[in-house]
Amino acid sequence: MLSATENTTMVAQRGVIARYRDYLPVSETTPVISLGEGSTPLIPCTRLSQRVGNGCRVLVKYEGLNPTGSFKDRGMTVAVSKAVEQRTAAVICASTGNTSASAAAYAARAGIRCAVILPAGKIASGKLVQAYAYGARVVAIDGNFDDALRIVRQLGERPEFAIVNSINPDRIAGQKSAAFEVVEDLRNAPDYHLLPVGNAGNISAYWAGYCEFHTLGKATKLPVMLGFQAAGSAPIFHGRVIDQPETLASAIRIGNPASWTAANAAIRDSSGAIDVVSDDEILDAQRWLASHEGIFVEPASAASIAGLFKCCDAADAAYPFRATPSEGATIVCTVTGHGLKDPEAIRIDASPTVAAMETDVLRVIGF
Ligand code: F0G
Repeated sequence: MLSATENTTMVAQRGVIARYRDYLPVSETTPVISLGEGSTPLIPCTRLSQRVGNGCRVLVKYEGLNPTGSFKDRGMTVAVSKAVEQRTAAVICASTGNTSASAAAYAARAGIRCAVILPAGKIASGKLVQAYAYGARVVAIDGNFDDALRIVRQLGERPEFAIVNSINPDRIAGQKSAAFEVVEDLRNAPDYHLLPVGNAGNISAYWAGYCEFHTLGKATKLPVMLGFQAAGSAPIFHGRVIDQPETLASAIRIGNPASWTAANAAIRDSSGAIDVVSDDEILDAQRWLASHEGIFVEPASAASIAGLFKCCDAADAAYPFRATPSEGATIVCTVTGHGLKDPEAIRIDASPTVAAMETDVLRVIGF
């Protein structure tokens, strides 16, 4: 049997802080609150690459394999470790579901309290279950994510609370680790990086991470950043706050992103773009990725894949990968959360119950 300290040390040795301590705002005395997050697979995808064509290589960064099933754990290990170092009594966040699941888990691990403010009726069931299971105090509000974040900003004025939304720079610092891992896996930056955009922290964090490793000489190039918002929740694309954002991809149902300015800078400085994908395109991409590559992601995560398809299928100038200079480009798509987070998003075709006989079963299988 391992002692509690040994066990904690072992997990912490695998986590984001252990792997990238030198690039994070932690010191020798910062307690490390970790669940062994990060180091997720960058999966080469043959069928996706074939669909893009032109000799392009597509790899998927599967963030659903983090301890609570989303990329949020990368930033949460840093934010909660710092909160504990600063002797904060409780962490609070607004969330569309994944931040709250992650905050609740890391607070439980740290032995501190956690309160999560959520838009009522708009959280995927798997995520809501997580917040309760990890023991968070859950407050549902009659409003959307943007309303919840406004309240959290107000509560954050009180000394007993540390905000662990991505307005906390420790979160962004931790999330940069995903870009570091991509560079280390590829031994360079990719040519293009595609990802879903909601509150816009992640696109900002990836860009910061790529720039940092480029400056350090670990990458010789920088990727073009391509962000995708759901069509009904696309404030950055439209350049204005959306008061009533709507999308089935509930994780990115956000009308007034906190990291709007940083995201615009990432897009501008990387010669990138922000585009929209419809809910149908998102659900088609989700099913395609699961059934063609064995990678099951939640709807919001599939926005990057839907965006990839949109870029490839459009026969116009928005065709970034087919332009001659890009032949053979390396393309990374981040898929941000696990498919099991939102089981209701998948249609289950009711198949008939048959007799417990081989012949009847074979008939249904269709061989
Ligand atoms: N994908 C998933 C699965 C998410 O949960 C989120 C954000 C995003 C993409 C967008 O990332 O906000 O950095 O642009 N979820 C937040 C939450 C808002 O509360 O869980 P972003």
